[in-house]
Amino acid sequence: MKPKIFITRKMDDRVVATLQDKFDVRMWESESEPVPRAVLLREVSEVDALWTVVSDRVDRELIETGKKLRIVANMAVGYNNIDLEAAKEHGVLVTNTPNVLTETTADLTFALLLATARKLILAESELRNGNWKSWSPMQFTGMDVGGATLGIVGMGRIGEAVARRAKGFNMHVLYHNRNRKHDAEAEHGFEYRELDQLLEEADFVVVLTPYTPDTVGLISERELGLMKRTAVLINVSRGGIVDEAALYNALTDNTIWAAGLDVFETEPVPPDHPLLSLPNVTVLPHIGSASIKTRLAMMNLNAQAIMDVFEGREPKNIV
Ligand code: GLV
Repeated sequence: MKPKIFITRKMDDRVVATLQDKFDVRMWESESEPVPRAVLLREVSEVDALWTVVSDRVDRELIETGKKLRIVANMAVGYNNIDLEAAKEHGVLVTNTPNVLTETTADLTFALLLATARKLILAESELRNGNWKSWSPMQFTGMDVGGATLGIVGMGRIGEAVARRAKGFNMHVLYHNRNRKHDAEAEHGFEYRELDQLLEEADFVVVLTPYTPDTVGLISERELGLMKRTAVLINVSRGGIVDEAALYNALTDNTIWAAGLDVFETEPVPPDHPLLSLPNVTVLPHIGSASIKTRLAMMNLNAQAIMDVFEGREPKNIV
């Protein structure tokens, strides 16, 4: 009997084929609908390995339903969707997909920063909607990125990759992190700041910290109030790190100038979400790591981690 795997989204056929000889692979094929919870619970009750994505809630109930489960391979660098405590108690390994997505996510972060600063999405949609009637000096004017001060909250691998890009824009780079990054400070001149100080000084604040009990609501009303009225907030980490109600208020009463969001407290974000009604918000559907090459690399890491477990090797990225 081959070990059974359930994959919660449609993956690339070539990667799935690498597993098919040795495993009995089942996959949720719909690309428009996530796997319903009842289906997931049923599948998990039968499988030895579970391949998940960032929006699958792998909670205690799910882990305890997986009586034979040996590994949850999460196709993301973040793993806040997984109850690690429950996994540990039940001897279920959890792996993630770091490194391969660092540069791709830094690219997207910078793209979102530029798009928000220069109102690209708004300007483009006005053009497409036939509202470009005249070249007008102050129409679609935004904030300069070149030479501005960037504040990175969460200076991990992706934070450092964003900071390196910022140097090409001649930005002054500040960062806040649990640990000082002395090498990056010495090599690139990035400067450490306490969070409040960073918020007060930065023209662009980029949130890249992991989502943990310590970072829930890290950027709330008080923190937004410390930012410059001309500042732009970019969140590419997890929605819950920024208090969305406080952000809505800050954007409507001009406490800050604009925000660019790739992540939301609830995903997929409902189309009637208040933040989506604001012209000074740029929104994206959680596409930080979405390049073809990177998504394939993440899939390959997941496939490899599952193979490792069943072929008696220790997988590379155990969390
Ligand atoms: C995406 O959000 C990830 O954690 O990889």
